Amino acid sequence: MTDALLADTETRPVDPAATWWRQAAVYQIYPRSFADANGDGLGDIPGVLSRADYLAELGIDAVWLSPFYPSALADGGYDVADYRNIDPRLGTLSDFDAMVTALHERDIRVVVDIVPNHTSDLHEWFQEALRAGRGSAARERYIFREGAGADGELPPTDWVSAFGGPAWTRVDDGQWYLHSFAREQPDLNWAHPEVREDFLTTLRFWSDRGVDGFRIDVAHMLTKDLTEPLPSREELAQIPRDGNHPLLDRDDVHEVYAEWRSVFNEYDPPRTAVAEAWVETPERRAKYASAEGLGQAFNFDLLEADFDAAQFHRIIDENLEQARTTGSSTTWVLSNHDVTRHATRYGLPPLGGRPVKQGVEWVAAGGPAEQLDREGGLRRARAATLFMLALPGSAYLYQGEELGLHEVAEISPEERQDPAFFRGGEFDGLGRDGCRVPLPWTGEGASFGFGAGGAHLPQPEWFARYAVDAESADPASTLSLYREALRLRHRLQSGETLEWTDTGRADVLRFTRPNGWQAVANFGTEPFDLGDDAADAVLASSPLIGTSLPAETTVWIAPQI
Ligand code: BGC
Repeated sequence: MTDALLADTETRPVDPAATWWRQAAVYQIYPRSFADANGDGLGDIPGVLSRADYLAELGIDAVWLSPFYPSALADGGYDVADYRNIDPRLGTLSDFDAMVTALHERDIRVVVDIVPNHTSDLHEWFQEALRAGRGSAARERYIFREGAGADGELPPTDWVSAFGGPAWTRVDDGQWYLHSFAREQPDLNWAHPEVREDFLTTLRFWSDRGVDGFRIDVAHMLTKDLTEPLPSREELAQIPRDGNHPLLDRDDVHEVYAEWRSVFNEYDPPRTAVAEAWVETPERRAKYASAEGLGQAFNFDLLEADFDAAQFHRIIDENLEQARTTGSSTTWVLSNHDVTRHATRYGLPPLGGRPVKQGVEWVAAGGPAEQLDREGGLRRARAATLFMLALPGSAYLYQGEELGLHEVAEISPEERQDPAFFRGGEFDGLGRDGCRVPLPWTGEGASFGFGAGGAHLPQPEWFARYAVDAESADPASTLSLYREALRLRHRLQSGETLEWTDTGRADVLRFTRPNGWQAVANFGTEPFDLGDDAADAVLASSPLIGTSLPAETTVWIAPQI
């Protein structure tokens, strides 16, 4: 294990500069929808810089920026045309440097997104591959195959892409290339040394510019075994994901991350990484979190759960146990740019095991808008967030959740951008635009203060109520709750453990951190009496009533000193 990852989980870390990530609150910025400094309707890097004080006041420890690289936006920027540059619509490299400096001055670390499974079809490598033709060295960097059928007119296999439709697209000379996502996102060939080398260059490029860490997109998909004959889609589905599946979560991907780790460790403090790895078991996830690899992995279990005490309890126990065995710290996520916002999820009928990516199907299916309990959803979201922020490990927050934003359903088909909407696939329903609508900063004015011009996705009228200026002035707002929670969290966070207390109620969870801070969450519909402890309550997601913790409410209790 490297020194950077060797933090004693029972006591404070020895070197805070190297272990900042272990219990950090990380705020995800979707740059094109955060703040628009030049009024062109697209958020940009100077926009982030202009909101540096807002981020500092919010109290987060780091920001993670979704891709800001040159891109044709076939997949919201996850189709990268140049990994070592900024989309000119979003700014320049010197804007980026100025943003990093401003954030660092405010003690906010910077994490950027690396998208290694695929490039954009506009990437110079892919353009070269198209020009160079079959059999060329340039095609080796991607996954080109001859088609099936008498004239190769059929795709090599019947595999489907994550956004629906065939996972293969045919080029002019008749060959086919593999794309696990949109056809504008050709998969790279990770068996190719130049591909490997180029990503090391990219990691150094951003690390040299002062970036503190990386979020690795679909980290479980890079390496592939494409030995002929290729299995059919049905056969693929039968192959266990135990490290030898041809496409997913292969053991050999960790050779890639071992190399990356040695690059991270060239820096002082070592750069960090968190894997976005949709794998089948906590044990498989642990491999990505290993100290010899990326060091941390997202745990999406809470995001996939209902607002339910038993599910939360089980998930927390499993993941803390997993973190203990890997030496990493666990991660908690309730919302991100790929899923329906949690205020909305919790205002809809329980998922009951249904994949969360389909949480928007109530609207897609023409479901009545009354199905959404806006107030209840937000009340539960505030309770879940406050409970999550008291847990050991790092918490990832998604822009706009601090305002209590709901998913925006009112986007016409013409205004939608997400390939998931147009092509279907595993992101069923309305796709992901509803959580990517530009943020409301002011209750009035062009694009609610997002920028001087319009907004690239339409903002509904109800955004005015959730605007930053309105919520800043209201001590009961969700923004005030997040600010206070993130401020107190620095005192609450201690050793990376917790101890449960039996509350006598299955729908009420209570734990104590090593320094005596407690969180109590009432997931039920009946109030819970806190007795004398109510006097030490420092923050609650809904007001206490006397000594009683209302339904669907979390409270933090500070130790007596
Ligand atoms: C990202 C998505 C993206 C996909 C392909 C992910 O999991 O979070 O937004 O569409 O990877 O890059």
